[in-house]
Amino acid sequence: ALKTGFPQTLLSWHRAHGRQGLPWQGVRDPYAVWVSEIMLQQTQVATILERYPRFMKRFPTVKKLAAAPLDDVLAEWAGLGYYSRARNLHACANQVMTDFAGKFPSDPILLEQLKGIGRSTAGAIAAFAFHERAPILDANVKRILARLFGIEGALQEKATDKQLWNIAQELLPKNPQDMPVYTQALMDFGATWCTSRKPACITGIERCPFEKQCQANLSDQVLQLPRKVVK
Ligand code: ADE
Repeated sequence: ALKTGFPQTLLSWHRAHGRQGLPWQGVRDPYAVWVSEIMLQQTQVATILERYPRFMKRFPTVKKLAAAPLDDVLAEWAGLGYYSRARNLHACANQVMTDFAGKFPSDPILLEQLKGIGRSTAGAIAAFAFHERAPILDANVKRILARLFGIEGALQEKATDKQLWNIAQELLPKNPQDMPVYTQALMDFGATWCTSRKPACITGIERCPFEKQCQANLSDQVLQLPRKVVK
């Protein structure tokens, strides 16, 4: 019942409590989606709110980004940190121009072959830009799923990763039209309610819609999951 009801419960939660009005929400241009996802990977939302519109104004298309000197892209990236992201962005723009005639592919398998795009980011781009039924599995989503389904294996283990990807795939909404909001809802739920140290179920500030189904909550293991191997 948890698996079949999950997408609709999460979508209802998002209507009431998700982050609304962010400039990259509702965007379908794959180039614009890709830029926002790479920026958001390791930089806070508040910073990206200022820098994303500026970047898009400077490099409005994948063609313009590909044609720009790398130094211009690095200069525009100044202050955002993790500069390999800017190098990969420039390289990826050139890959899209040469290998895909300037159009981002919609298939997450192809997206994942591009510079700087991992499996989860490929899923996010496919879901946001193309309404593909492709899962994401970033750190937030791993935490949500490990708790809901009481996954005890350490995140670093291959078997755990495989298990989590399988669950993420099974949970997807049936209707592809729901994919963008569903994907954003997962990110928002992990960032604001099912957080690492102060999840809603522990603080009691909000009622989690999954409290009666969440394996970790039912067995008082929320702060113990997901497990990480201490090396
Ligand atoms: N982190 C990665 N992608 C994001 C998004 N679309 N919204 C908020 N945070 C994110």
